[in-house]
Amino acid sequence: MLGAGGALLAFRPVRRAVCPGSFDPVTNGHLDIIERAAGIHDEVVVAVLVNKTKSSLFTVPERIEMLQEATTKWPNVTVDSFYGLLVDFCRDRQIPVIVKGLRAVSDFEYEMQMSQMNYSLAGIDTLFMTTNPVHSFLSSSLVKEVATYGGDVSALVPAAAHGRLLARLREVAPRS
Ligand code: PNS
Repeated sequence: MLGAGGALLAFRPVRRAVCPGSFDPVTNGHLDIIERAAGIHDEVVVAVLVNKTKSSLFTVPERIEMLQEATTKWPNVTVDSFYGLLVDFCRDRQIPVIVKGLRAVSDFEYEMQMSQMNYSLAGIDTLFMTTNPVHSFLSSSLVKEVATYGGDVSALVPAAAHGRLLARLREVAPRS
């Protein structure tokens, strides 16, 4: 549409998406998905689930800090936390799209079920991205397990998380 001054006015709604997860801790696989989501949306909110029943290595504020440090290079990415249903968080923030990474076919079944539930609850779509194959074996749980027994995970997590991971593991499970 041409405005009075001849300028092209674009009345396009802001394209917003959420990348939800536990991020205990964030891995390079998560960052790959966040970066790609940020490339095709105006705003991406990384949302850390506050899960009171699941034990975690890092507190939610620690996970948020690690994510913030690791995502500063993408100005359209913000980090927040949520408690309860993801669709309620999406509704509050007017976020119509959930972005999820799929590492393998085995991820798909449960992800599809969650996607269909979220769509039926609130009409919120899920966009699946296949992970970069270099990260397809990667999970926060495996990173923690490998690091617990002295394996080198420095190439699997951002620097922001690596130092904290080693420090936390020394606190909770000092190696003999
Ligand atoms: O990193 P994770 O633990 O695999 O992330 C799972 C997460 C947080 C995306 C998922 O458990 C979730 O969305 N939880 C919020 C609660 C909810 O909305 N449950 C209904 C899902 S259909």
